[in-house]
Amino acid sequence: MRGRLGRECVYVPSCRFGLFVALRHWCPPGGRVLMSPVNDDVIFFVVLAAGLRPVQAPLNPLDASIDVDAVPDDLWGSLSAVLTTNLYGNPDDTPRLRAKCDASGIPLFEDGAHAIGSEVGGRPVGAWGDASVFSLSKHVGAQAGGFLSCADPGLRGALEETCEDLLLPGRLTAELAYAVRPYAEAAVRGLRLRRAAWATMRLLGLTEREGIRMPLRPEALAGAVGAAPDLAASDPWVRVDMHDYRLRSGRLRLGRIGRRLDRLDEVLAACRAGTEHLLSTPWARPVRRDPQPLFRVPLFVADRDAAIAALARRGIVVGYLYDPPLDDYAGVGFTDLSPDPTGARWFARHALPVDPLRARQVVDVLEESGARPAGAPGGLEPTRG
Ligand SMILES: Cc1ncc(COP(=O)(O)O)c(C=O)c1O
Repeated sequence: MRGRLGRECVYVPSCRFGLFVALRHWCPPGGRVLMSPVNDDVIFFVVLAAGLRPVQAPLNPLDASIDVDAVPDDLWGSLSAVLTTNLYGNPDDTPRLRAKCDASGIPLFEDGAHAIGSEVGGRPVGAWGDASVFSLSKHVGAQAGGFLSCADPGLRGALEETCEDLLLPGRLTAELAYAVRPYAEAAVRGLRLRRAAWATMRLLGLTEREGIRMPLRPEALAGAVGAAPDLAASDPWVRVDMHDYRLRSGRLRLGRIGRRLDRLDEVLAACRAGTEHLLSTPWARPVRRDPQPLFRVPLFVADRDAAIAALARRGIVVGYLYDPPLDDYAGVGFTDLSPDPTGARWFARHALPVDPLRARQVVDVLEESGARPAGAPGGLEPTRG
């Protein structure tokens, strides 16, 4: 990762943990962080856990990047930091955000969880921010691990120390569960037991999300926010989908992550090919930048629920949906609302994130089920380039 980004990197057990460390290092509690409302709720909870107030940005409806021109001028002076999302691997307009942050004297953080291998302004995503974070659970598919990188090499030691203070000791049971998980998943797939497995997990209370967003539980969350900055108080929200997020990684885990990371270029090449194929279909929107090896390709269908159901019948599970936007989900009690929520709402409602590694199967299903492309978002013409 140091070679790819050209800057110092610290291994962390998860991207969310790396982000918490970065926010704590650069932003005193009480600060305000401009972020995307079309994002995993986990990131929202990490910002709250760091004692910061999320401020939701207006978004471009075609790729959910922050619409820099639509951020009101007087907002910049009230911010303590900006956090990009690079959703599904489509980069935010980071060069302009970098310039805005420099002009306001505030740090820029890049969340590159979806964007290993993406570039913007001639540099990799993650090479623009004061700090950037990556998840090895996404492209690398390791279901654990991440990186925190920093622009100033002199900060590496201090960041490592903060990580040390916040890491919890590894647990043998967690390592063993991590070790057997791929085999258990392969067995479920092989025996076509996926539906039964989900039903059992739900019965045992092992799934934390019934819908796309996890239950907010506002009263309890207000207590956690009152205790922030504190990762322990926010643990029930921050750990969603990954209870090991702050455990020190054992040898077994690091071994598997390393082996998977070795294959990253192969995976990125396959993602690029699948992305090009999906972007040539009628459900794609013209991309504003050079095509990237996307982690997910947002297609836009008129009836997304029907498309999700048609894909599910073929065993293709659609994940990484972020609907509704975070300000509609959490409300003014926990975040500043976007000055213009229309782009985020349109994207959140219509985007169907497709795994480029399954491009052909998905296109077959969409064609067979007669999925129609979504109409253009207000004011934007569906011109194809
Ligand atoms: C945009 C984004 N950033 C960060 C994360 C968190 O990554 P990790 O699970 O490695 O903590 C996620 C998780 O899905 C995500 O979607």
